[in-house]
Amino acid sequence: MKNLQIKTFAEYKKAYQKSTENPEAFWDEIASTFTWKKKWDKTLEWDFRKPEVKWFQGGKLNITENCLDRHLEEQGNKTAIIWEPNDPDEESRYISYRQLFVKVSRFANVLKNNGIKKGDKVCLYMPMIPELAIAMLACARIGAVHSIVFAGFSSSAIASRINDSGCKLLITANEVYRGSKRVNLKDICDEALENTPSIETVIVYRRTVEPTSMKEGRDKFWFDELQKVDKDCAAEEMDAEDMLFILYTSGSTGKPKGMVHTTGGYMVGTTYTFENVFQLEKNDVYWCTADIGWITGHSYIIYGPLAAGATTVMFEGIPSYPDYGRFWEICDKLNVTHFYTAPTAIRALAKQSLKFVEQHDLSSLKVLGSVGEPINEEAWHWYNDNIGKGNCPVVDTWWQTETGAIMISPVAGITPTRPTFATLPLPGVQPALMDENGKEITNLHEKAEGRLAIKFPWPSIARTIYGNHQRYKEVYFSAYENMYFTGDGSYRDATGNYRITGRVDDVVIVSGHNLGTATIENAIDEHQNVVECAVVGFPHDVKGNALYAYVILYDDVEPTEKLESEIKKLVSDTVGPIAKPDKIQFVSGLPKTRSGKIMRRILRKIASNDTDNLGDTSTLLNPEIIDEIMQEAKR
Ligand code: WT7
Repeated sequence: MKNLQIKTFAEYKKAYQKSTENPEAFWDEIASTFTWKKKWDKTLEWDFRKPEVKWFQGGKLNITENCLDRHLEEQGNKTAIIWEPNDPDEESRYISYRQLFVKVSRFANVLKNNGIKKGDKVCLYMPMIPELAIAMLACARIGAVHSIVFAGFSSSAIASRINDSGCKLLITANEVYRGSKRVNLKDICDEALENTPSIETVIVYRRTVEPTSMKEGRDKFWFDELQKVDKDCAAEEMDAEDMLFILYTSGSTGKPKGMVHTTGGYMVGTTYTFENVFQLEKNDVYWCTADIGWITGHSYIIYGPLAAGATTVMFEGIPSYPDYGRFWEICDKLNVTHFYTAPTAIRALAKQSLKFVEQHDLSSLKVLGSVGEPINEEAWHWYNDNIGKGNCPVVDTWWQTETGAIMISPVAGITPTRPTFATLPLPGVQPALMDENGKEITNLHEKAEGRLAIKFPWPSIARTIYGNHQRYKEVYFSAYENMYFTGDGSYRDATGNYRITGRVDDVVIVSGHNLGTATIENAIDEHQNVVECAVVGFPHDVKGNALYAYVILYDDVEPTEKLESEIKKLVSDTVGPIAKPDKIQFVSGLPKTRSGKIMRRILRKIASNDTDNLGDTSTLLNPEIIDEIMQEAKR
């Protein structure tokens, strides 16, 4: 581990201090531990007002040389990826660094053979199988930009993402196993492909033996394509600021934002944080349970761990199949040392009998991680006591798709932890807590609550929203002058430790999935009987938050249960099953301000059954609607 610099709390403090006093020198030193084809000329150029951030300008590299080639000599036979299938009776796959290198190079040639060149966009809609990792690294090898769409998203979600970035090629699998179910991904893609004029070729990996519909001239099987190419593929020379990938995340308006990550800074940021936060040692087995369709999977299943030369586990299945002990069975079987998951999974597993845990030997575990949403006290303790047996530091890692890498988190075994606190900023991260007047609360020795912003650029910050730099500026750089706004609220204690309290905008985190309420509202509005609707989040004991939809129907329409399920299905089909509202209330109106804005704050309170103090309602045009909504609220 070349970047494992922090080994004591004093070293953490020293690194942090250096990173704020001289950020360029700090990151220069870390960046020098990677393989570059040409060294950079300028470490950092930035202006949050434009906004513009450039790291390691003039530097030339290929991230796959850092994730693969450079490990071959010393540890070519080390396992890079352990793949654990959905069905425990199917065999695990162990792929060494050398094997992965060959597979990636070969598939990179498949992409080239299908006309893909540097800068072209490639959409991946795939299950959690090694071929997903191979395809993404193959894109990076030739400088193509991958845009991975989580394989639980609907056909229209795929189509809008493909069209937004103009993807030329789509890679998918015929089917995916999910617990006891089989889902036909290719059928979902075919539906999406009816409206995606930029796609020229589709490559289909056969995960199952079931017949697959293939369109002549457009669709090709993965294995057939492999036969046509050889295994050597030189890595394309990329500029540090060349685009590595686009990944869509929800926003406050209906349209998902294509966050753009570039090559050099992203690599440096993910690898440095991976090694230091988790404190990985040479023979450790690291498992992050996220899906690669999310940023956690990009940064901490693939790029960070592979650049660090670690062994990373990829799991195809779900925590409840064949039973609720599956995670622990895998930890036992693979001797997992580092386990990184989401609070929603912890809460779901904590609800089950402890026998699912006790049946398995968890003594290999050394470090536990949490990510995606605030972890509540109860879940934290359950995780710490029953999984870590009180011996494994819990790292509660706060970050975002936009930040690319972990920002605020304990360093495992080094930073004192405190339940529900992400604790301290990592070196290179300069948080600012902002009060309601938009002023920074600078006293670190007094507890305070506010909104979380970041004052200085870090290497892995997203550079723009694809095709919409103006929106990037508005969403992240307009709330506070010359600062990046996170969209999160935060509490800071008198020792400078941060607890993230949750989103302060119209994004709701459901089971760790970041959902924009506007997207869901747009879907519901499509129903022929719906006039208007508003969707808000409310606390849920397993999912963290669930969705509550207030729906206005046309006058002549009866509110029925059938209509409710139609609306749920509509959301599931257009956005994805994860976005299905838990509760739907039919209302005759929505509380609106004089300027016509829905007052979501009130709707959130009603949905959360927290109606003692609704706050200021004096700007409402129709205050009488509140009583009606409250009386009929679904509890
Ligand atoms: C939002 C970003 C970053 C990986 C997964 C989510 C919430 C994330 C934590 C944490 C409290 C957290 C924030 C953030 N969040 N980690 N440890 N404690 N909240 O990425 O989909 O971009 O969502 O997730 O609200 O803004 P994402």
